Amino acid sequence: MAQSSSTSSGLRLAGKVAIVTGGASGIGKETVHVFAEQGARMVVIADIQDELGKQVAESIGTHRCTYIHCDVVDEDQVKNLVQSTVDAYGQVDIMFSNAGIASPTDQTVLKFDIFQADHLFSVNVRGMALCVKHAARAMVEGQVRGSIVCTASAAGSHGSLKMTDYVMSKHAILGLMRSASIQLAKNGIRVNCVSPNGLATPLTCKLLDAGPETVDLIYSEYKRLEGVVLNTKHVANAVLFLASNDSDFVTGLDLHVDGYYVSGKSELAF
Ligand SMILES: NC(=O)c1ccc[n+]([C@@H]2O[C@H](COP(=O)([O-])OP(=O)(O)OC[C@H]3O[C@@H](n4cnc5c(N)ncnc54)[C@H](O)[C@@H]3O)[C@@H](O)[C@H]2O)c1
Repeated sequence: MAQSSSTSSGLRLAGKVAIVTGGASGIGKETVHVFAEQGARMVVIADIQDELGKQVAESIGTHRCTYIHCDVVDEDQVKNLVQSTVDAYGQVDIMFSNAGIASPTDQTVLKFDIFQADHLFSVNVRGMALCVKHAARAMVEGQVRGSIVCTASAAGSHGSLKMTDYVMSKHAILGLMRSASIQLAKNGIRVNCVSPNGLATPLTCKLLDAGPETVDLIYSEYKRLEGVVLNTKHVANAVLFLASNDSDFVTGLDLHVDGYYVSGKSELAF
């Protein structure tokens, strides 16, 4: 089975080909930078924010990073994303399936808007499943002992007073990851989740209608660990661990990057 080496250079992703969905912004964007810094041969950003995605790729250098428009809801686009990556760069070693959204209203059970929920599930659940499916198929066909990492959330393991659809969607990601990790183990393919606590990104700043400092303050009541504020680099470093050979014997894990989650007074979900 093929496995790119990360030995002589000391870089943890030397020679690897990675896809990052939702790589134009927030956690995905930071992870694209970390993957490139760690020697990935090519990082393919897949997103629907074309201008931002291209800017991220250009800031790294298009010989090391490229952008492709891909709405993860659309199976043909996901299939094309993976196939064009294999055609251009030979294989897919890493799929970081990270694209996700939140509903614009509170989505309590009593005021549950099923159309908003349908849209959210189409991105957060359907999109995630399609990315796992097509990355896994390419890895199996190419006999690549690859790594698939999905972005779940602290909301994947806890209930909430609001954002019922989001909480449901993140619980579903754990089911997807656990099933995929069992089914793909025989192929040597690892599947794990990263589950961040709330942190300031364009998604949460928009959701809470606040700037990054206020968002950090709001989420600070959801963790026990003092003296550190969660940022995108913390999450990207956890993804790097799961993506790299450093976690060679780790599969089926939901890696909490949450400073030990504690239920906050305002009962948000993230
Ligand atoms: N920010 C937090 O507090 C937090 C906490 C836990 C988990 N998460 C999860 O982290 C992931 C990234 O979120 P973020 O906070 O970086 O948000 P973000 O909005 O900054 O980034 C999300 C990216 O996903 C892209 N995207 C949305 N729909 C898409 C689609 N249909 N196809 C392709 N790309 C699409 C967006 O364009 C955007 O670039 C999400 O899955 C989110 O649920 C975020």
